Amino acid sequence: MAERLRDSRKSEATRSSVRETHLKVTDFVYPLFIEEGNNIKKEIVSMPGIFRYSLDRINKEIDEVVALGIKSVILFGIPLHKDAEGSESWNEEGIIQKGIKHIKKHYPTLQVIADVCFCEYTDHGHCGVLCNHDVDNDLTLVNLRKQVLAQAKAGVDMVAPSGMMDFAVREIRDELDKNGFKHIPIMGYSVKYCSSYYGPFRDAADSAPSFGDRRTYQMDPANRNEAIKEAQADVDEGAEILMVKPALSYLDIIRDLKNNFDLPIAAYNVSGEYAMIKAAGQNDWIDEQKVMMETLLSIKRAGADIIITYFAKEAAKILAPPNLPKGEEKVPS
Ligand code: PBG
Ligand code: ZN
Repeated sequence: MAERLRDSRKSEATRSSVRETHLKVTDFVYPLFIEEGNNIKKEIVSMPGIFRYSLDRINKEIDEVVALGIKSVILFGIPLHKDAEGSESWNEEGIIQKGIKHIKKHYPTLQVIADVCFCEYTDHGHCGVLCNHDVDNDLTLVNLRKQVLAQAKAGVDMVAPSGMMDFAVREIRDELDKNGFKHIPIMGYSVKYCSSYYGPFRDAADSAPSFGDRRTYQMDPANRNEAIKEAQADVDEGAEILMVKPALSYLDIIRDLKNNFDLPIAAYNVSGEYAMIKAAGQNDWIDEQKVMMETLLSIKRAGADIIITYFAKEAAKILAPPNLPKGEEKVPS
């Protein structure tokens, strides 16, 4: 017999009793852009509310992150000097290594994840070593080992290779294990599409390719079966967490991974997804806070256990963690 489904929608009490998906502050990972230099706090034009910081000014931001109950950050470094191979990325005194040390020293309980890639460090903006105007997979793997080892020595908690090089997870796992870092997990950007939604990030991280695009390494947005193959490869190579990126146009892929793999699934709610909601919100064309929460909820409902999002702080304020300073609690709407 057909149910009267509206019965359970009568009041907030009944609705909440049958609610299937709940966001938590601990679902979120907050991205931080760390720029080499001093006294930098620069807002990213296409990402209102998101800043590049130098290390001498970042503590105030992280204090807020911690007070809101967010347990995890992912770091992107913007170096002063770039070269063809991105060698600053494995300099032990490079910006990301300094950032890891700084944050772990001041906030030892915060999980620090490092993005592992070269596009912020190369003068051409591609995600590895170039050979005949394309990124050479295996030459890039050699440098990936160096980068990840430098991050591990600096004290990183987890590494997240984002360059879509074949066998990156295998090489990184081997390098970490060989050097006494068996305990550092790998979150693979397993299924990363060649997406135009990364535009604002490339301003933020100063990482736009100077020629061409990333179609020879990132996935074709048309492909769904291939996503399973990419994820399976990362599983076989030893990844602990699988990521889908971007999130919103790829909710079907998040669900596919959730249904096919036992590992935690992460989704990256990317810069362009953030920028669109911010822009429409600033124009009063949408209710920004409600659309933000609905968006994050949809990503979780699709199957994401972990959500990397520039909205982490704002969403955390709405979810009202118990350790918020008195007087700032808000009731979820
Ligand atoms: C680097 C990297 C990118 C993002 C995360 N890591 C950009 C790219 O592939 O061009 C995008 C994140 C975002 O748009 O928020 N490989
Ligand atoms: Zn890259």
